Amino acid sequence: MEFVRLLLVFLHLLGMAVLVGMFLLSRRAPAGAPLNVGWVHGAALQLITGLALQLLAPFTDTEYSHVKLGIKLLVLLVIAGLALVYVIRRVAAPSWLPPTLAGLVVVNVGLAVFWT
Ligand code: HEM
Repeated sequence: MEFVRLLLVFLHLLGMAVLVGMFLLSRRAPAGAPLNVGWVHGAALQLITGLALQLLAPFTDTEYSHVKLGIKLLVLLVIAGLALVYVIRRVAAPSWLPPTLAGLVVVNVGLAVFWT
């Protein structure tokens, strides 16, 4: 079971890397470009792996703060919701969007690391 937890943490960290990568790509995107669908894929990976880690906690001898995970979930839903709306509408991504999404990703990394 410990291997499953480690595998999920591995994928969870790769999902974070996808989101950071999307931000870096957005810096090089031409003006008026739509939002990269990778934002939605990265957010979905974070959601699936994060919830799986939380649900498996009783079997992996781990204990997480439910308040912390609840806040992380809310932050992620904002990221996923915003990304989904702009990807589905296929309109130009406003200039504030990628930095806002990246800022929310950083908030979740901070919560994961500093809230023990
Ligand atoms: C943008 C979204 C997210 C980011 C960037 C993120 C980032 C991280 C990072 C960096 C860690 C490793 C922390 C450490 O090992 O000290 C972590 C761990 C964890 N995250 Fe997330 N997270 C996100 C969303 C979520 C969500 C939505 C959930 C579940 C509701 C979640 C549940 C967890 C759990 C349970 C762990 C602990 C894994 C362990 O060490 O056993 N995460 N997260």
